[in-house]
Amino acid sequence: MDNPRTQAREAARLIRQGLTQLGHCYQTRDGGLVEVSFASVQFVEDAYALVEVDTRRLPPRVTISKLVHPDTLHHLTAVVGKPVKRLNTTGLTYCVALKAQKKQRLPKMIELDLSHRPTGDYVIGFGLSREGEVWKPLEKLRHIVVAGSTDSGKSAFLRSLLYQLLKQSLPVELYLTDMEGLTFAAFEGVPQLAHPIAESVEDATQIAFQLTQEMERRAALYQATGRFPEKLSEYNSQISNLHSPFSILPWIVAVFDEFTALIEEAGKSSDLYRLIGQLAMRGRKYGITLVFAGQDFKADLLNTRITNQLRTRVQFACATAYQSQVVLGKSGAEKITTPGRALISFGGKITEVQTFWVEKERVLGLRRGPVSPLSAEERVLVHHALEELGGKFNIHDLAEAFKGRISQRRIEQLSRQWEARGWLVAGPTRADGKRITAELVNLAEGRKGNMPTQEQLDRPFHWAQDRMMRLDPGSDEFKRLMLKIAEDSDHPNDVAIARILRRKLREESEDSDGA
Ligand SMILES: Nc1ncnc2c1ncn2[C@@H]1O[C@H](COP(=O)(O)OP(=O)(O)OP(=O)(O)O)[C@@H](O)[C@H]1O
Ligand SMILES: [Mg+2]
Repeated sequence: MDNPRTQAREAARLIRQGLTQLGHCYQTRDGGLVEVSFASVQFVEDAYALVEVDTRRLPPRVTISKLVHPDTLHHLTAVVGKPVKRLNTTGLTYCVALKAQKKQRLPKMIELDLSHRPTGDYVIGFGLSREGEVWKPLEKLRHIVVAGSTDSGKSAFLRSLLYQLLKQSLPVELYLTDMEGLTFAAFEGVPQLAHPIAESVEDATQIAFQLTQEMERRAALYQATGRFPEKLSEYNSQISNLHSPFSILPWIVAVFDEFTALIEEAGKSSDLYRLIGQLAMRGRKYGITLVFAGQDFKADLLNTRITNQLRTRVQFACATAYQSQVVLGKSGAEKITTPGRALISFGGKITEVQTFWVEKERVLGLRRGPVSPLSAEERVLVHHALEELGGKFNIHDLAEAFKGRISQRRIEQLSRQWEARGWLVAGPTRADGKRITAELVNLAEGRKGNMPTQEQLDRPFHWAQDRMMRLDPGSDEFKRLMLKIAEDSDHPNDVAIARILRRKLREESEDSDGA
């Protein structure tokens, strides 16, 4: 293949020839020929030839409007054998796409390589297109729809998306919904999972509710800055610049796999559908990205409130041109035969992409250490009972503490199950209620070492002291624990230690006052 400079010169020669054929030239009386001349011929990125017409020295009776007429461009395209367009600049420059003719083939499989990731916050790689790898910042994508028939590559794509989110250094929280319980199993136990993976309409509704509440919380925090941030990156940079007492907020990504099936089951008058509508409409401003995956999206399923916000649409292979039309506004995906191949619309501009492949093993490598067999919900209950209730699994107190997040019925159910498994034991008297066992705590922590023994658990305040010794005496948690010991314990050791610690605290605060 000729080098681009030669190709560009050849294109310029053919353009002049084509224009002369059309009569865009001037015949002098003595039989000489004045053709259109060029001010410059350049090439860009080996892909385009830019041929600038010298408009100040056009042959007599040749006008710019003749040179840019669609019929002229059409003729030039035929003569050059490559698309010839007018560049949108002042003057007149023809642009020839040099590479358009050799249609590069996309590979059947391309492994995600994070070393290619461009710098920037929350940048996500989609895959390889004919123009190169496609990487986009989450903030630009708004909400995402992922459609395709069975085995087309939806779940693999979601896996790659989540993997990438977990492999960057900024904070992120994940909320996952998966009716079949298969897609995200590998993500169970990653610390960024903010809620147990939802496998039912009720669980999904709970997630959607929690997210709307988080949205309200963020709205209040935004307002508290007094600076009207418009998006999460703005809020976070204001927070860091202002030395604010509030902390940076993580980006939230909520993925609903099998969304079509989920809504079919829940119905369109459900709380779930209503809450998702609210999240779709307002969530983006607060750093909440929703991802909806499913097999066949009906035109009416994504109601307008959601549709308007779905700027990124990934359509894998599908059965009918109609399906492709519903998602992309354009047919074409029905012709796809390769798994992982998709047509992706970014705000209306459609690109064909072989999406990045991420092996399951890479995802499994994300988990550090052994994983707790308990769900995140079960773990927080155990933690709360241990840290706040002195080891008592008190249903009423727990229900109160997790109001709106975990129902009393669920806590009662767990209490019965765990007692039967020997993870909760009845205290000496009825009033003592059930207590958590060391085995349960160890299961909740999912790791060994530094865990309380049964003896420590039976004397919870010694366990608390142990913790205190490892805490920063200036921290709130330290003060809270200390108060608890002073108030609740009548063990002489606890009282003595509390007294010492309190004195230490007082001295410290006097020191800092005096300084
Ligand atoms: N990006 C990819 N590159 C190469 N192969 C892929 C890619 N994505 C998917 N595949 C292949 O296609 C198979 C099916 O993909 P996947 O499980 O993602 O389908 P799906 O669309 O989620 O199907 P379902 O609707 O049944 O859940 C994968 O096991 C894999 O072999
Ligand atoms: Mg799937």
